[in-house]
Amino acid sequence: MSKITKLEDIVSLCKRRGFIFQSSEIYGGLASCYDYGPFGVELKNNVKKAWWKTIVQMRDDIVGLDCSILMHPMVWKSSGHADKFADLIAECKKCNTRTRVDHLVDAKQEHTGHASIDVQKTNDLTGKVCPNCGAVGKFTDPMPFRLMFETQMGANVEDSMTLFLRPETAQGIFANFRNVLDTARVKVPFGIAQIGKSFRNEVTTKAFTFRTREFEQAEIEFFCEPGTDENWYEHWKETRFNWYTSLGIKKENLRFREHAKDELAHYAKACVDIEYKFPLGSGDWQELEGIANRTDFDLRQHQRGMRTLNSWYETKGDLSKITLKDEAEDYKSGPLSFFDEEKKCRYIPYVIEPSAGMDRSVLAFLVDAYDEEEVRGETRNLLRFHPAIAPIKAAVFPLVKKDGMPEIAEAIHKDLRKYFRCSYDEKGAVGRRYRRQDEAGTPFCVTVDGQTLTDKTVTVRDRDSMEQIRVSADQLLAYLRQKLEI
Ligand code: GAP
Repeated sequence: MSKITKLEDIVSLCKRRGFIFQSSEIYGGLASCYDYGPFGVELKNNVKKAWWKTIVQMRDDIVGLDCSILMHPMVWKSSGHADKFADLIAECKKCNTRTRVDHLVDAKQEHTGHASIDVQKTNDLTGKVCPNCGAVGKFTDPMPFRLMFETQMGANVEDSMTLFLRPETAQGIFANFRNVLDTARVKVPFGIAQIGKSFRNEVTTKAFTFRTREFEQAEIEFFCEPGTDENWYEHWKETRFNWYTSLGIKKENLRFREHAKDELAHYAKACVDIEYKFPLGSGDWQELEGIANRTDFDLRQHQRGMRTLNSWYETKGDLSKITLKDEAEDYKSGPLSFFDEEKKCRYIPYVIEPSAGMDRSVLAFLVDAYDEEEVRGETRNLLRFHPAIAPIKAAVFPLVKKDGMPEIAEAIHKDLRKYFRCSYDEKGAVGRRYRRQDEAGTPFCVTVDGQTLTDKTVTVRDRDSMEQIRVSADQLLAYLRQKLEI
């Protein structure tokens, strides 16, 4: 059971141990933007590597991609984001704070569940409380608020163009579907995976890195034959749930939440969230990853968008004046279709999309790994990270700073660091050095002692059990590498 019970505990742990800092802190900070510190960047990189390894490296049916954040504005017209990607918000007439309508709570209610943004149901805000000033029922009528950030491309006024920072990495994958199909020797069923930054001008933040305006997503668009989509949906639910538990998240802190029919996005046939029991004030279950059956919606939309490109030039890029052309009658043979050589037929593939947040994953791994225990009358604080994601894999110490021990320990450290992130520490009593590493979540501590000088063995201490074994120095690398894999 994690000993972290409040959001403030996580924030303070992350700051104290150099995992996550407020962005631009020396200037008072920038709301909802965060920087990963020396341990945080290692942890996050390792989480991303673990995702890439299981999703791309270890499967034959998925290839990777790294798309540009800035894309042609028609991408967002076709995907629906330009017209529809908005939150419904209401402004408090007393303090002028704007809040997402689905985040407003009743005067009697403790916290929100997952409400759908339905204007009919949410128009009545009479019993709702302003989270900023506490006024009850003092809201304006709900209004849509566009979540995409805009920016300008081009130096000259006459040819500059308004672009959007991508609000999801998924659309870059759809826009490259044809390129990948033509170059990567793939055939349906197959997936395209990508990790990258996304941006949303979120209305409600204040939940540390859980909901930020700049965040990193790891998404798979898995293309399959219509009719096989429900099986692939089940496959991805199981695969993605097991990924979290295989990296150490406790099963009791994870669950599925299947979306009700009236909650589904207009394009989705089914959607499930993998939720983690975050200690965010109310102790709510919160979304870590969404897995959606997006049907053939996106590829069909982009085919319509490609047919509408002329309007982009005619309207000088004014998306609000563009209406997507209807689908061609033979849309199933369109430029984003797939020809099945064996069955000799063409179709637009269905898509199963597992979409994970890397910042939320890092937060969940941190919270889940945190532990405190009593050892000989003292409290030991530690982070029980799976070795594959631990920021530092091994720390090397000389037991004492004499008798040639520092030289041997430094040589071991220099050798190990060619393969993974290690640290060297010779300061203070060895017990204190172990504690420092426990706090950073380092799974192994290697100590050079008197016996090393005679038999060339070192001790390897396991962070979780605190047990020590002797390993021959020339077997150390192989021993550690085997323990560090997923
Ligand atoms: N392409 C589908 C898509 O983007 P989403 O549910 O909006 O779906 C997927 O986002 C995941 O991205 C979420 O489960 C969450 O982990 C992460 N995410 C979304 N918005 C976020 C935000 N503002 N801050 C941090 N992570 C976010």
